[in-house]
Amino acid sequence: MIINVLDKKSSILNKFIAEIRDAEIQKDSMRFRRNIERIGEILAYELSHSLEFENTIVTTPLGTKIVNVPKNDIVLCSILRAGLPLHNGLLNYFDEAENGFISAYRKHISETEFEIVVEYFASPNLDGKVLILADPMLATGLSITSVYEGLKKHGTPKEIHLACVIGSKEGIEYVKKHFPENTKLWIGTVDDKLNDKGYIVPGLGDAGDLSFGYKLSK
Ligand code: URA
Repeated sequence: MIINVLDKKSSILNKFIAEIRDAEIQKDSMRFRRNIERIGEILAYELSHSLEFENTIVTTPLGTKIVNVPKNDIVLCSILRAGLPLHNGLLNYFDEAENGFISAYRKHISETEFEIVVEYFASPNLDGKVLILADPMLATGLSITSVYEGLKKHGTPKEIHLACVIGSKEGIEYVKKHFPENTKLWIGTVDDKLNDKGYIVPGLGDAGDLSFGYKLSK
């Protein structure tokens, strides 16, 4: 796996990540969603460097210009529900992408043990396309891997990118073992550990709840 950790280079991204982590600022859910969306836009920009490009001729009111533009067929797949603001950010830049949505949740067997239940798939065919799988919190890596396993019945993408905001070292190790070697991970920042409930520490808390409010657990 080719791993790109974006906060290694100082940029405005660090401010957006600081705001989503901040226990006071993150209470403003509109700002939280918008910050995740802005991070999605930055991930899209960075990821775009690795796409295939082709020349096209653009006609302006005054003449023509050859412009080098990305030529890939992109399918953007996100995990409901926490992935929605990140999906929007990526889609703001890859505005011609096809879109897929998959539901995945942690079904708790005990206070600290859970399994991932993947239920709903709405995805186009993936054959020969560039698949971008978006998941804001790469904690254990179990959700994004289960979703990928389920997506295999929708075709074989020519390349896979994972777009994430905050990850754990453990989660990265897990996805490295379960995705093809040429998969590219684009991630805002990486934290050291998980707590006994599988949450990233220091992380930010629950990205779904912070975006959309609390929910009853299954
Ligand atoms: N999902 C979250 O929203 N936060 C975590 O820390 C882990 C999974």
